[in-house]
Formats: sequence, structure tokens, C-alpha cells
Amino acid sequence: MEPINLYDFESRAKSTVPHNVWDYISRGSQDGIALKRNRSMLESILLRPRFLRDVRKRNLSTTILGEPIKFPIMIAPASSQTLVHPDGEIATARAAATAGTIMSLSTSSTKSIETVAAAASGPLWFQLFHCGKDQTEDLVKRAEDSGYKAICLTVDTPIPSDKEVDIRNNWQLPPEAYRGNFSHNTLTDIPSQFDSGISEGHGRPPTIPLTFEQLPWLKSLTRLPLVIKGIRTAEDAALCVEYDVDGIVVSNHGGRQIDCTLSSIETLPEVVAAVNGKAEIYFDSGVRRGSDVLKALALGAKGVLIGRPIFWGLAVNGQAGVEKVLDILYRELDLVLAYCGFTSVDQIDDAILHLPVEMEYSRIPYVEEIRGLADLHSKGLISRKEFDSKRESLLGIEKQ
Ligand code: FNR
Repeated sequence: MEPINLYDFESRAKSTVPHNVWDYISRGSQDGIALKRNRSMLESILLRPRFLRDVRKRNLSTTILGEPIKFPIMIAPASSQTLVHPDGEIATARAAATAGTIMSLSTSSTKSIETVAAAASGPLWFQLFHCGKDQTEDLVKRAEDSGYKAICLTVDTPIPSDKEVDIRNNWQLPPEAYRGNFSHNTLTDIPSQFDSGISEGHGRPPTIPLTFEQLPWLKSLTRLPLVIKGIRTAEDAALCVEYDVDGIVVSNHGGRQIDCTLSSIETLPEVVAAVNGKAEIYFDSGVRRGSDVLKALALGAKGVLIGRPIFWGLAVNGQAGVEKVLDILYRELDLVLAYCGFTSVDQIDDAILHLPVEMEYSRIPYVEEIRGLADLHSKGLISRKEFDSKRESLLGIEKQ
């Protein structure tokens, strides 16, 4: 029987992909606490559906940084897609175009920036891992020249996080699976894979640091909007606003990097509060159902991204498999939208949600107050020092 939901895709993909590759794609870091929590917290948010409304005509379309898309579900950057299908990122980009949405291409992709741009007829983002001044400049320029619509800088991998399962499997990504953007370089002078789980102690070259203070330099390289992926706190979100970024992806990298964090959905409300409408907010980590999309939108996201389900679609049936994954999510979102009494995704608000007690913290006053402080700071009414010290006292952070 054809897969009818994303979990069908997952189990079918698992039976076709070699177990080392499956472990690399599916597992989280260390104890998998963040990975599990991404799902359990999404599942613990319940809906308060509304009826007796005319919901026969529905519109799922939206815009992302001004770019119209057919529904608010995008494709997260994910490396090495040829591990599960020979067409890799080309198939994914074509599927995204058919579905009418945005695909993000990873710095660590198998297919290059230019190859994917030539194959894709829909909008693309380029996901950047900072690779040092020269490499980063080159990548950003290539993405802009190839017509990508945004640079999405991933910040939640300052140093790589051990994926114990890969070490135990004695498995490393084959270089050709993640160096598509570096084929003109020699294998020794290019960065190692950033999401491989093989850390410096296991043969990875040292990581190249990037700090908030360097964001103006990065922005000066391009006219494209800058999206920061991997923000987990109101504090960092407020700083992103200060550095004038265009978008933020609230993401815990699908639980693949630091473990023992809040789930991504728990983090979303405080980031939304701190940003206060000054940048678009997107969400990923754990989205498997249309209702998950609705929940994230209700908490303030403009759109969501999916990671692992892309590998499942690719493994099962290449481009057609990814198209089907997107189609299933589209239909599920359409259904839950109608059941909640909405006719367009812009109408969704948090009154539709019943939050678990664990998430009630997002309604406690400090989130509102940090938002107010960020607002005052961005208007120049309080200094950075005042902002930091008030925020620290609100959060109960003791100065050493
Ligand atoms: C990723 N992700 C990722 N993110 C990123 O910014 N650059 C990258 O190269 C990769 N590579 C990557 C490889 C694989 C195999 C996976 C599964 C994920 C993370 C990705 O963009 C996204 O944040 C998560 O996948 C979202 O969680 P779900 O949808 O997988 O639960």
C-alpha cells in the first residue's frame, strides 16, 4: 500500500537504507533527549477546534521574505542527500518547485550551488556554515550569482557534537557526499562536514569561529536577506534583532547537536516575544503532521521546515517521494485548518491551542518584559549595558 502519512515513509525508508546511514540520519546527539522532546512536546500541545464557520474555501499560501509560496512548509537544509538517492538535492529541489515551496541547500550538500540552481525552477535558500573569510565570501557570492533568495546562516554548531552512534558504528560520511560545493578545492584545505558527528578528536579540523560582531561583515557580502538558523533563547533572538537580521529559524537542529535542550516548540514563544515582529520567524525540529505546522504557526512562526522526512521521501521514491511527503503535509494542514475554523493560514492564532503546563512558562511575565526591553533598546532608549543587566536580573542570572 502507498504511504499515507510521514511515519509510513519513515518505516519504508528504514527498510531500504543501510543501517549506518539510517543511524546517521535519524538519531540525535548523546541520549537523544532533545530529539525525543521535539516530538513529545509537539504532541502535548492540544487543539481547541472551532465550528459553525464556512470553511469550504481555504487558502494555505503565504509569503516568506516577500517570496510567495503555496503553503508554509519549506525544506530544511540537510547535507549529503545522495546517501539515500543518487539524484540527492536535485530531486529535492525539483520536488520543492513542483510543490510551490522553498528549498534550502546545505553548505555540505552533495550537489553544488550551481548544479541545484540549474535544476530547480523554484525559490532556493543557501544555508551557510561559516568556513573562514575567503571560503564564506566565495560561497555567498556563488549563491547570490546563482539566484538564491536568502542566506541562512546556521549558528548552532560552534563546534561539532559527537554523535555516539556514528562513532560506535565506526561510520564517517564519504567526502563526496558533502563536498559538492568544494569540488574545485583540494580535499585538505576545505572544511570538514559540520553535521557528521565526527568531532575534532576524531580527525576533524578545528572549527572556524563566527560571532555576533562579525554579522555586519557577513551582511556586507551580499544584498540577499540574512536568516539565522538555530536560535534557542530570547536573549540571542534580541541580539539578532539588534544586528538587523531578516529572519530567524527557531531550531534545535532536529536534536542532532547539543542534547538536553528544550524542544524547539518550547523555545518558539520566547523568541517570538523577543523579536516582536522585527524579523520573520520560522520553526523546525520534529514536524511530522499538518497539525504540528498549525501549532507552530499559532505560536508565531511564519513557516516551518522539515528535515528528516525529506530523506524518507527520497529513499522511498526520489523526487516523487519528496513530492508525496510535501503533498501529505499540505493535505493534513488543510484539514486541520478547516477543523479549527480558519480559511487561511494568516488567521491562525494561539487561542486555538491548549498548552501543556510545561509551556505555560512562555506566558509568564519575564518574556513580555524582555520583549519590552528589546523594544526600548532597538529604539535607542536604553543602552546595551542596561538591557543586559535588566534582562539578567529578570532571568535571575547572578553576576560572578
Ligand atoms: C540536518 N540539518 C542540517 N542543518 C543545517 O543547517 N545544515 C546541514 O547541513 C544540516 N544537515 C543535516 C543532515 C541531516 C541528515 C539531518 C537529518 C539534518 C538539520 C536540519 O536543517 C533541520 O534543522 C532538522 O532536520 C529539523 O528536524 P527534523 O525535521 O529532522 O525533525
